[in-house]
Amino acid sequence: MRLATVYGSPTPPGKMARALGLIEREARERHPGWSVERVAPRDSAGPVVATWDDEAVRRIGEADAVVLASPVYRGSLTGTLKLLIDMLPNEALRSKPVGILTVAAAPHHFLSAERHLRDILGWFGALTAPNSAFFVDTEFRTDDVTDDVRAALGEFTAQVVTLAERLDGREFGPDPLTVRYAKKTAG
Ligand SMILES: Cc1cc2nc3c(=O)[nH]c(=O)nc-3n(C[C@H](O)[C@H](O)[C@H](O)COP(=O)(O)O)c2cc1C
Repeated sequence: MRLATVYGSPTPPGKMARALGLIEREARERHPGWSVERVAPRDSAGPVVATWDDEAVRRIGEADAVVLASPVYRGSLTGTLKLLIDMLPNEALRSKPVGILTVAAAPHHFLSAERHLRDILGWFGALTAPNSAFFVDTEFRTDDVTDDVRAALGEFTAQVVTLAERLDGREFGPDPLTVRYAKKTAG
């Protein structure tokens, strides 16, 4: 099975990349039968924006489960990640397990990006994993990450892959609003 891990940051790999790297390692080492592909922006279009290619969209569409990772920017997800999300076809995440990983400088911003991502994933009819992973960025200042953080990332990874394994591609209804609206206007 395929796990797509989305590096939703415009900056070169930094603290969030360490967290995402540990999730990827967990999936490879502890979950036999899973392959992991990191989906990262193609190039930078300035200090806070990077762009994506069609390959990124294809990989997400073909994945059995997805981890969306974003630093908190201005109390929300990055514009870079939103650009990718806006490129996805409506059905790309339907009934698909999606885990949310966010990092921020300030601990009180722990829900900032997550709650916005949950709204967006609801629009797609994604199967958003109930427990997200949030960390203050200082946890990943170096490769020397605490056991607690590693354990949390391990549980987070197990949650996402188990959802995909147990549900085995099952689709859930009712259709998301966008599908129902499209049917109505077509008919
Ligand atoms: C444009 C911008 C906006 C940010 N906004 C917030 C914010 O609203 N709240 C917060 O806690 N951290 C904020 N941060 C800090 C980042 O979330 C944090 O440094 C994160 O670790 C960056 O990810 P990286 O280390 O992988 O590059 C912001 C950083 C940037 C560059």
